[in-house]
Amino acid sequence: MENMPYRAALDLQTVTVQAPAGEVTSTDWQGGLPVLGGTQVTLRELRASDAPSLFALLTTEEVTRFISPPPTTVEGFEKFIAWTIRQRTAGTYACFAVTLKGSDTAIGIFQMRETEPGFATGEWGFAIGSPFWGTGVFQESADLVLEFAFETVGVHRLEARSAVRNGRGNGALRKLGAVQEGLLRKSFLRNGEYLDQVLYAIVEDDWRFSREMVRPIHAPRIH
Ligand SMILES: CC(C)(COP(=O)(O)OP(=O)(O)OC[C@H]1O[C@@H](n2cnc3c(N)ncnc32)[C@H](O)[C@@H]1OP(=O)(O)O)[C@@H](O)C(=O)NCCC(=O)NCCS
Repeated sequence: MENMPYRAALDLQTVTVQAPAGEVTSTDWQGGLPVLGGTQVTLRELRASDAPSLFALLTTEEVTRFISPPPTTVEGFEKFIAWTIRQRTAGTYACFAVTLKGSDTAIGIFQMRETEPGFATGEWGFAIGSPFWGTGVFQESADLVLEFAFETVGVHRLEARSAVRNGRGNGALRKLGAVQEGLLRKSFLRNGEYLDQVLYAIVEDDWRFSREMVRPIHAPRIH
């Protein structure tokens, strides 16, 4: 999440959407993100009407401590949401709203962007309102997004960066099977201080293997 583009969205009042430079494995999701249904959560594309709840839940000190600063107003979130749709249309990025089953209120987001043309490699990040931490919402949402990344988009390597000091972020990634590959020293500027980050990756082969071995029953549905 540290390098995910909250800030870029705010800085760019007008964004030129460019066609993806490389081959895209699946074009379906570029026309609109699928709804990903779990037992506890439903993930769907962001809408402008999500701005108030995301502003309320994702701008608190505990959520933002180790990630790029979020928009500071509801209008800023509306601009960010409009930007996410444009980037999805271009095939370079996807952002899901996390909602609880039976409620349409967005309580968090999962973002994913390509790091090479065609999305063979990507980076993801996530933030969930703190009232929902430790409830299983993260795990189930992450499983759904990983399925989307590897099965629908065609990603084969998904990276994440987490500040070394971000205990929850690191714990969350590790329990998904993300492998620590390196330490990016002084790579993230936050509140005037350069923080070290851990570079994690989940590769497609490992994801398929662990899915079969550890969670043979889990089968998220794409509606
Ligand atoms: C990251 C985030 C989405 C994870 O959601 P969550 O509900 O807190 O995650 P979970 O509770 O399911 O998993 C976190 C794991 O880290 C563990 N953990 C918590 N504090 C920890 C610490 N200081 N050190 C190591 N592990 C820690 C938890 O015990 C848990 O593991 P468990 O389920 O095996 O007990 C959420 O904390 C969040 O939005 N944080 C703010 C934004 C952020 O930091 N994003 C991630 C950037 S990489």
